[in-house]
Amino acid sequence: MKGLCIVGTGSSVPRQAVTNSDMARRVDTSDEWIVSRTGIRERRFAGEGEDLTALACAAARRAMEAAGVGPEQVGLCVMATVTPDKLTPAQSCLVHRELGLAEDCPAFDLSAGCTGFLYAMETVAALLPRMERPYALVIGGEILTRIVDMEDRNTCILFGDGAGAVVVRSADAPWYCALHTRGDGEILWAEGPGREPPHLRMDGQGVFRFALETVPRAAQTLLDRAGMSADQVDWFLPHQANHRIVDGIARRLKVPLERFYENMDRYGNTSAASIPIALDEMVRGGMLREGQWVMCLGFGAGLTWAGLLFQWGPQKEDK
Ligand code: UT7
Repeated sequence: MKGLCIVGTGSSVPRQAVTNSDMARRVDTSDEWIVSRTGIRERRFAGEGEDLTALACAAARRAMEAAGVGPEQVGLCVMATVTPDKLTPAQSCLVHRELGLAEDCPAFDLSAGCTGFLYAMETVAALLPRMERPYALVIGGEILTRIVDMEDRNTCILFGDGAGAVVVRSADAPWYCALHTRGDGEILWAEGPGREPPHLRMDGQGVFRFALETVPRAAQTLLDRAGMSADQVDWFLPHQANHRIVDGIARRLKVPLERFYENMDRYGNTSAASIPIALDEMVRGGMLREGQWVMCLGFGAGLTWAGLLFQWGPQKEDK
């Protein structure tokens, strides 16, 4: 099955760490409430001079350096985000310029909320074989603090800013992906431009129920397609929204929580950036071995949800 091989990863988060105690100075909340309900302890907020172009380019450069891939080898650049620096051109075009990518390397954005990175991976898996150059850059990045209402304690404690990126090439490797949508504008949304303020609004319990209803089912669909059981998956990499959601998914799949990677304690929910940032940490932490099975699971605004099951490596090959 034609899929992708990830040959390099990178990530970048803003300098400013904001703890739960800091949040308790802004809204009526507490460290105890946030940790027990979400697992989040701190998040990063973009400050002066930190825009999404800078975060995304830093993540992409690290991924390209890890891969040993230069801008002239990149034939496709797709960025998942809902908080671009400009309404137009696309965020990926700003990244394209900064990185000096070639003119026959198309760049476009993809909006699928927190599932955006997985949507982008599957889109790239389909398109990359038709491109002029062998590698693609897939980036997930957000400055969610642009649309979060800092006076709404239901949402402001959850989200953070950051970017993650991967460099991929096409590969004849196992690749099982399931993308889903259930169109809905009332569970998780932000109004469009001209409708100020464009704040993120959310029915938290609605999202919670939706995630636990859909994500384990998507995971099972992928396992069935691959003829595998959940025991055979070495790592689950879920969207980092809430520890209790991850715990619920693990229970439903009957998989020990130790096989689920989590870092929401340090970054909160970074939407499209959450899976690639976590993946980069896993790679740099030496957690992934060649041949291991990885299942990424995403869910978010749309409503969208997705699963991606693939085998890790090999990272290096003759170029
Ligand atoms: O990428 C997807 C993005 N969204 C999500 O992942 C969200 C999924 N949902 C959740 O993570 C949870 O629903 C939340 C963490 C948002 C909320 O947890 P919950 O256990 O569902 O709490 P709740 O909404 O039922 O609220 C319980 C109480 C309420 O007070 P009353 O009505 O019982 O008096 C809230 O007003 O907690 C209150 N509350 C807070 N208290 C302290 C809500 N937010 C806070 C807060 N600090 N930050």
